[in-house]
Amino acid sequence: MRAACCDAAVLGQSAAASDIRLLRVRWPDPGHAPHAGQFFTLRAWAAGEAPFLSRPISVHKWEPETLTVTFLYQIVGEGTEKLSRLKEGDAVQLTGPMGNGFDAPALAARYEKIALVGGGIGTAPLYQLARELKACGRTPDVFFGFRDEPYCMEQYRGLAGIVKVSTDSGRVGFHGFVTQLYDPADYDVVLICGPTPMMRNAARLCAEKGTPCLVSLEKKMACGIGACLGCTIETASGAKSVCKDGPVFAGKEVFGWQT
Ligand code: FES
Repeated sequence: MRAACCDAAVLGQSAAASDIRLLRVRWPDPGHAPHAGQFFTLRAWAAGEAPFLSRPISVHKWEPETLTVTFLYQIVGEGTEKLSRLKEGDAVQLTGPMGNGFDAPALAARYEKIALVGGGIGTAPLYQLARELKACGRTPDVFFGFRDEPYCMEQYRGLAGIVKVSTDSGRVGFHGFVTQLYDPADYDVVLICGPTPMMRNAARLCAEKGTPCLVSLEKKMACGIGACLGCTIETASGAKSVCKDGPVFAGKEVFGWQT
């Protein structure tokens, strides 16, 4: 399905942590409903104004009854700083949904024991994934790692089975790596989103235990539709674009571990 482009109304914005924001918008195009792991590009500034590119942000929550999309994002530069100034009633230009995302019905049909493993802002798309898996009759376990300050964890109550958190600083939860929180051998599949070193390590551990895994990659994007080749990566099956062929790939395809 081709992505749609709309001026969407901002419903509200709140802080989830010091540099983390939750932005709620009305997506007025139910014919282009997003699913877990897909993303939109967002733009809250005029054409010709910096930054040049719109910002790709994954769907944190989709509520079809109210046509509401929630984005959980980190303020990391000029674009996201401008997005953070949006308030109720403002307009934001949305293009999407884009990317393959996670196929929750297929995953739920194929696998029973499912682990969601996230790192930092990479946890954002895993909430919608947990919701979709739950709707398909699966209760995933959740293992998230943060630098110092966990956020948006309370919403997994009732949605997930085991919920464990690690922090680099040791301020909350386990002091160490998120990959120390679980054993891939206990799961039929592990679904991962976070910083590349963490995903590479998690995929390697899955391979060692013979557990398949999917990883959701993040890359700087320009066109978002596979046209500019700006987000091309090398995979086991040749060059792929993260925006169109991904962002979700089999771990072994991206990192080369055999599972
Ligand atoms: Fe242009 Fe992916 S952003 S090909």
